[in-house]
Amino acid sequence: MEYLTFALAKGRLAKKSLELFEQIGIHMDEMKEPGTRKLIFVNEELRIKMFLAKASDVPTYVEYGAADIGIVGKDTILEEGRRLYEVMDLGFGKCRMCVCGPESARERLKHQELIRVASKYPHIAKDYFYNKKHQTVEIIKLNGSVELAPIVGLSEVIVDIVETGSTLKENGLKVLEEVCTLSARMVVNQVSMKMENERITDLLYQIKPLIG
Ligand code: PRP
Repeated sequence: MEYLTFALAKGRLAKKSLELFEQIGIHMDEMKEPGTRKLIFVNEELRIKMFLAKASDVPTYVEYGAADIGIVGKDTILEEGRRLYEVMDLGFGKCRMCVCGPESARERLKHQELIRVASKYPHIAKDYFYNKKHQTVEIIKLNGSVELAPIVGLSEVIVDIVETGSTLKENGLKVLEEVCTLSARMVVNQVSMKMENERITDLLYQIKPLIG
């Protein structure tokens, strides 16, 4: 039997992804060893391989078939725009993609002024402002701590993930508009979906009753 290979987004979603697999009897014990520098883990008995990758790389591994299955946030799926099948909403990692900024930016947003929008998600930001709102904006790509941008005057607003809202609150920013809701999704390579249909369907069947 061929290996079925899983790419998991490291970080917030990884722990929950592993918990989910454990519930259906897929144990990757080595993966949980603290401080391990190993990148790929194998369960010989189940013919499963698993690796952790940077979230934004997960759709790439899956599109090219280096992984049959990926678990990654909807934000990354939207941003990367890869050719893959999104097969299941896993119900964890729930949060929202929002336009945020200081209260003072609300009016400028409303009056369709040419504002600057900082984001780790330039494609999502562009799609929202250009295609949904028909508003011309300047998009500035950042790689993290995006909340800084309106504080130091790099941009008027940001497009970023809001989970608890505490980052915004602690920095005097507010949600001004909601772009979409997000959560962890299972994605599948388009060829694997055909070649490994039975194993993948069985996996989905086992996971389905476990998600809220
Ligand atoms: C994410 C996001 C927000 C924060 C939202 O950042 O970009 O900054 O979490 O969470 P909250 O609403 O619960 O405060 P992350 O911690 O991934 O770091 P980064 O922005 O530096 O990439």
